[in-house]
Amino acid sequence: MTPTREAFQITGLAGKRTLSGEIPVRGAKNDALKAIPASFLFSDTLTIENIPHIADISAMANLVKGLGGIVEENDRTMRITTTHADGKELPVEIAKRMRASVVSVGPVLARFGHVSFPHPGGCVIGARPIDLFLKSFEKMGATYEVDDKFYHIKATNGKLRGADIFLDIASVGVTETVMMAAVLAEGTTTIRNAAMEPEIQNLASFFVECGAQITGIGTPTLTITGGELLKTNGQAYQVIPDRIEAGSFAILAALAGTEITITGCNLEHLRALLSAFDTAGVRYEKHTNALTVYGADNYTAVNIKTHEYPGFATDLQAPMAILLTQAEGESLVFETMFEGRLHFTDDLVKMGADITMFDPHRVMIRSKKQLVGRELESPDLRAGLAFVIAGIIATKTSRIRNIHHIDRGYEKIEERFRALGVQIERVAD
Ligand code: UD1
Repeated sequence: MTPTREAFQITGLAGKRTLSGEIPVRGAKNDALKAIPASFLFSDTLTIENIPHIADISAMANLVKGLGGIVEENDRTMRITTTHADGKELPVEIAKRMRASVVSVGPVLARFGHVSFPHPGGCVIGARPIDLFLKSFEKMGATYEVDDKFYHIKATNGKLRGADIFLDIASVGVTETVMMAAVLAEGTTTIRNAAMEPEIQNLASFFVECGAQITGIGTPTLTITGGELLKTNGQAYQVIPDRIEAGSFAILAALAGTEITITGCNLEHLRALLSAFDTAGVRYEKHTNALTVYGADNYTAVNIKTHEYPGFATDLQAPMAILLTQAEGESLVFETMFEGRLHFTDDLVKMGADITMFDPHRVMIRSKKQLVGRELESPDLRAGLAFVIAGIIATKTSRIRNIHHIDRGYEKIEERFRALGVQIERVAD
């Protein structure tokens, strides 16, 4: 995870629509990232298929190795054995850099009875506290201490117990980690106001196939009755297609494509985006596991309010904002989840967009303005990709720096975009 000193150099299309072809979607980062630490719930080897080749996945695999797991990788398949693992301290450097590391706390705590970890890092898109993780584990009978380096959590008598937990926020990470902890806890856990993201549903369904007792999958109330370690019996975990990649590619296609087909995606996971496309006037055709988007000259403003699934994904807010800079009228973007997630719009203004920030959660984007290429610092994973899209539709050349953020979540994005006709190079910075 050492940040690479590289940048993307993009020659903009100056508003022309010339891109075409097919672009395949990789496995979902946010699914694979949770399946890897889920290996602590299994007595046998967990095989995970359709793994994307991205930096965050390597970091999570190293985290599991640091806890004593054995990880074998072969192209897009990962095999993880935790039979003899007994690590209870998350590797500091990985945990401090990656927010998702905190999801591993639940399975490790449930399996070994205690775990230590530093405050998790990741994209700087807001405060990102861990209060709901700690509160939930306390409800399950754990206690914790904090020193200058670590949180140390211990289950009373070495075993978590089931609890009735109401999540003040329908947090993805908390739902996942508590669900995993509950699989090995004594008794029944109910998670109310649980997040319902497809990645959580995929994880829960696989646990059930491997012997877990979970009901309410895909609803806001998950009930989990704990038991022994799960057994895969040779069944492999299939990572679902990345809906954020698919959505971002669809937005690029609407802006700069003549006809682009996004393949290997699940359209059910894209309903909120396609509904916004309907309002904006983006034309598309649905196929089984694929979406063809036809670029057009005129789009209409759309108000976007980010929401937990199945609402409009906060992770698609930044790319969507680029589309809205090219729509006629006034679009209000209301980012409900993360207070730092609209700061990237300052740079869009420097590129020529007409955007007013009302407060850290709301911006107004006004009528179509031609963006002008410039040097941009990728502030986080999703805004980084949005800057790439902005650079593609802009005039002149853009240089996107800090691209280690983009590499955390998108596999070889420059090669895949070049196949559509984008002029993009990875250059030393
Ligand atoms: C996950 C996704 C991320 C996505 C986000 C929301 C992964 C690896 N990342 O992040 O791409 O943007 O869901 O869809 O899957 N919160 C608290 N206290 C806590 C935990 C969370 O206040 O203890 C708050 C967060 O600050 C945030 C909100 O809850 O405002 C939602 O965050 P959460 O759903 O937990 O996001 P992540 O799981 O970190």
